[in-house]
Amino acid sequence: MSTETIHVSVAWPYANGDLHIGHLAGCYLPADIFARFHRLRGNQVLMVSGSDSHGTPITVEADKRGTSARAVFEHYHERFLQTQRKIGISYDLFTHTDTENHHRVAQDIFTRLLAQGYLYKEKQTLLYSESEKRFLPDRYVEGTCYICKYPHARGDQCENCGNLMDATQLIDPHSRNNPNDKLVRRESQHYFLDLAQFTDQILAYLAAHEHHWRPNVSRFSQNFVKDGLRGRPITRDIDWGVRVPLDGWEDKRLYVWFDAVMGYFTASIEWAQNMGQPDAWKKWWYNPEAKIYNFIGKDNIPFHTIIWQAELLGIDGIYNENDSTHGDIPLQLPYDVPANEFMNIEGQQFSTSRNWAVWLPDLLERYQADAVRFYVARTFPERQDSDFSWDGFVARVNNELLAAWGNLVNRMLGFAFKRFDGVVPAPDNLTAEDEAIIARCEAGFELVGGLIADVRLKEALEETLSLARGVNGWLNEREPWKVIKQDRADAARSVYTALRCIDNLKILFAPFTPFSSQQVHEMLGYAGQLFGEQRIENYSEETRDHLALVYDGAAAIGRWEKSALPAGQKLRKPSPLFTKLDAEIVEQERGNLGQAREEREI
Ligand code: MF3
Ligand code: ZN
Repeated sequence: MSTETIHVSVAWPYANGDLHIGHLAGCYLPADIFARFHRLRGNQVLMVSGSDSHGTPITVEADKRGTSARAVFEHYHERFLQTQRKIGISYDLFTHTDTENHHRVAQDIFTRLLAQGYLYKEKQTLLYSESEKRFLPDRYVEGTCYICKYPHARGDQCENCGNLMDATQLIDPHSRNNPNDKLVRRESQHYFLDLAQFTDQILAYLAAHEHHWRPNVSRFSQNFVKDGLRGRPITRDIDWGVRVPLDGWEDKRLYVWFDAVMGYFTASIEWAQNMGQPDAWKKWWYNPEAKIYNFIGKDNIPFHTIIWQAELLGIDGIYNENDSTHGDIPLQLPYDVPANEFMNIEGQQFSTSRNWAVWLPDLLERYQADAVRFYVARTFPERQDSDFSWDGFVARVNNELLAAWGNLVNRMLGFAFKRFDGVVPAPDNLTAEDEAIIARCEAGFELVGGLIADVRLKEALEETLSLARGVNGWLNEREPWKVIKQDRADAARSVYTALRCIDNLKILFAPFTPFSSQQVHEMLGYAGQLFGEQRIENYSEETRDHLALVYDGAAAIGRWEKSALPAGQKLRKPSPLFTKLDAEIVEQERGNLGQAREEREI
């Protein structure tokens, strides 16, 4: 088995509000399942992301709360760290875009692109608010989408059709804060990324990846290029963000999208520095064998299939100029961008303003992390929008996770613990049926692993679940709890077989439901962790400290292997894996939707 080198780049959440189920379903959980699998498989994984701390999403929230942009992003950044640790998103590093490292590298990239002739300056017509005496950032602007006619399109993007907007083309543009504030057009000088220079390279890139990308991602990206690539502004009239590294540009900042996508790269550099191996990031970024996967939601597609590629192509050097080992190798472009569609809630689109949302910090106060992970993974919007429904949650947790997996584990471990002196029984020859069910579970490593590697995560979980059901079916034939009365040796055979299957299933389930797999691991009598520990750490930079979520993935390496459960191994006293959900929660939880949510002070 040769090892692969895998970069898991996960979309950076805006630090302007809590994480919700849409974030989890859109990219964090898929990325985590994928990363955990690859670590188990023995591959070298680097999974990074962080809080997107810049841009108008943050300043809008700060204005609303009467506080500073910094206070808003620091507040939510810290909550992101806690929430993601609780639900087990195993980033090697989850940092943010307001680190010195990020600012420095983003400015270096700007300078490099400028020197290489990929940036140009142009007067831009923008929307200006006479009453506020300032240019209104696109996010502050609302109007009717000139493509689909949705009446509440934002100045930067239409949430309805997903197209990026040119705010000045919106029909009837007005301020979002004040619909009576009609906006006027005015000129302002800005830098643009000259995307047109990359057209041929990007077309070739899209064509080369077409066969393994999701069809909607390919189609969207190809259409985007087909109409001709136009320059995109990369600076903004705003005072919060990365400074433009040029004299006379003090009152402008880099556009949040220009610097945020660079986070995949800057966070890799930060990770290497924190590890005390400052060159370690090159193993992913300057290695033609490495594969970079960008896990994102569908509203982020063009930034991750075209614009980020143009930035990477334009950098061309600077990080490898004095490095003979990497001198001729270009920075690697993403190998796959498995964008998910949206997850609606009880048939309606997510909305912060109406509080039609399922917030992760609230959810995790009431339910097991693995129950949430399981349900979301069962309903991943991989090919089309999906729906989070509370009765679906109850049904899938009770009838699938608990009935097929939790009960199998608790039933068999409880039985072995009581009737076989708390050890794995030593069988004599297994029956053909016993051998067959073990073989079927073992074949799961190929089957489920292949699906996960193809980012077909929903199918992978379905297969895993059906293996667990297969074991239950076999067990109902074998009935060791009855057989033991007259034939203890035969009961020992089937209990041993069941425990072997459980030991295999524990690993197959582990990318999806890692906490309960750890519990099974311990109940089976093993020591140690299936995965490493996640910690919140404080890193100090010259001018300020910052908190980050870190993880030690080494423990998982190479565990994607069939069970070698030794007969005679001492078991631990089993305790229930999953809590059965009460049907009453359905109405309670539905009742919370659309109700005002208490806002915490910042
Ligand atoms: N913050 C953006 C959003 O929530 C996503 C940024 S992804 C990045 O839509 F890669 F650009 F950071
Ligand atoms: Zn639209």
